Amino acid sequence: MNFHVMTLFPDMVMAGLSDSIIGRAVSKGLLSIEAVNIRDFANNRHNKVDDYTYGGGAGMLMQAEPVYLCWQDIMDRIRQRRNADGKQSDDGNGVRVVYMTPQGRVFDQAMARELSREEDLILLCGHYEGVDERVLSEIVTDNVSVGDYVLTGGEIPAMIVVDAVSRLIPQVLHNDTSSELESFSDGLLEYPQYSRPEIWHDMRVPEVLLSGDHAKVDRWRHEQSLERTRQRRPDLYEKYMAR
Ligand code: ADE
Repeated sequence: MNFHVMTLFPDMVMAGLSDSIIGRAVSKGLLSIEAVNIRDFANNRHNKVDDYTYGGGAGMLMQAEPVYLCWQDIMDRIRQRRNADGKQSDDGNGVRVVYMTPQGRVFDQAMARELSREEDLILLCGHYEGVDERVLSEIVTDNVSVGDYVLTGGEIPAMIVVDAVSRLIPQVLHNDTSSELESFSDGLLEYPQYSRPEIWHDMRVPEVLLSGDHAKVDRWRHEQSLERTRQRRPDLYEKYMAR
């Protein structure tokens, strides 16, 4: 999987994704992440990429042309790489361009799973008051929000998407089953977990977990998942029970 993040703040994006599990996956060649600076495609002396909005109103808007040129540059490189890999007829059509916006579909685990099947993913981070609608209509395939609140830019949302998608790519997590068993994979929240010591602050690890009876442990964990979901996320619980 190759992530291409279009942004005015490439250092911020790379800093957020170069450590820990994602950083290690990049080092191992399981995925690649590039943050491409939209400002490098400004065609004026001051590298300006924003301007006033037609019709008036507060704030500046990201202009269409630098965003378009940045996208073209990424697409050229994707095509070159795919052709070099022997995919002769691959014109790069079908490379999804995800625009991070509070106006998008709300990101969830199902969307992460769907996106993890792509070979390349382009993520566009907006800033200022947004992006000129014309370039959005020309290049964007998916509008994605990370929740019903407004952030100052699309960088943190893009990092969220890269992180959630990356950990679903085979071998990124040490333990392949851990991405399947945890919260949301089956529509339920994860059961509580315990490590050593057996007693901490007068609290004991539930007896069943020390029993060595795997069937009993599985049953207990499922019950805990159900109960936790019912209490904390009644919306998910209803959905689970109705399926
Ligand atoms: N940009 C600003 N707020 C956002 C949000 N909630 N989701 C995605 N992109 C955003």
